[in-house]
Amino acid sequence: MTTNGVTTEELMQIALDLVGFGAVPGDSRVYVPGRGIRRIMAAIDVDVAELRLAKDLGYDCFLAHHPNPATLTYPEVLDKHVDLMVKAGVAPAAARKAIAALKEGAAFRYHSGNYDHLVSFARLLGLPFLNIHNPLDELGRRRMQAAIDGHLRADSKVSDVVAALLTIPEIAAAPTRPEVRVGSPDDRAGRVVVAHGAGTNGGYEVAKAYFEAGVDTVVYIHVDYGAAQRLRADGRGHLIVAGHIAADAAGIDPYLDALEAKGLEVTRLSGLGLAKRR
Ligand SMILES: [Fe+2]
Ligand SMILES: [Fe+2]
Repeated sequence: MTTNGVTTEELMQIALDLVGFGAVPGDSRVYVPGRGIRRIMAAIDVDVAELRLAKDLGYDCFLAHHPNPATLTYPEVLDKHVDLMVKAGVAPAAARKAIAALKEGAAFRYHSGNYDHLVSFARLLGLPFLNIHNPLDELGRRRMQAAIDGHLRADSKVSDVVAALLTIPEIAAAPTRPEVRVGSPDDRAGRVVVAHGAGTNGGYEVAKAYFEAGVDTVVYIHVDYGAAQRLRADGRGHLIVAGHIAADAAGIDPYLDALEAKGLEVTRLSGLGLAKRR
């Protein structure tokens, strides 16, 4: 495969296979298809300048993580919060209610976005371009939950969850640290759920639903200040943020390693590869 390079569809399939997904989720897409790809520029974020740079530097493909306004089906992925909540013991109706405003807000935002901006420039440059978001966030979620489950005992504290997250090289190498945003590091951690891999963080409503279902500690990768303030005012549960870019990198790096193992050349930018440069 690698002597002739890969296609954009094969790049997507490799990510789906790593997490056992049967279909491309709504927040991931091939915008400009291509074949014979050997050199890949990989970045968490992308704009037109980065596409131009990739073309100028002779890359065959741009691989981004975050979705862009062309990914109009993005709001579907927020339903994955429901699956995660129900698995953790939240009643299905309460779980759906907890994401209703989040989902509608995303639908409003994506409907008004410029779906052709980035894609039209990639097309003009003749640069194959895709983004892979949810499969790699799911990979990161599994890594974080496994690190926590393997590290904690019955009497572990919230600070031990932070220590568990720091066993992941991408999180340890980041300039940000995992932070306890709600509750005290000295409290008992109790039941810990990593609520990630569902489009974006669940804000106030999703964390509250977990706490009401008996989850003691929720891990997001990021949270708004306002949502944290509301949760603090409720005086219940603990919320840890792993660090946005650090946790994204923790899900993306294993995938890029898999591409390199197939003989592809990958340049990691925009928050990727920090753990390797240490
Ligand atoms: Fe992500
Ligand atoms: Fe992200």
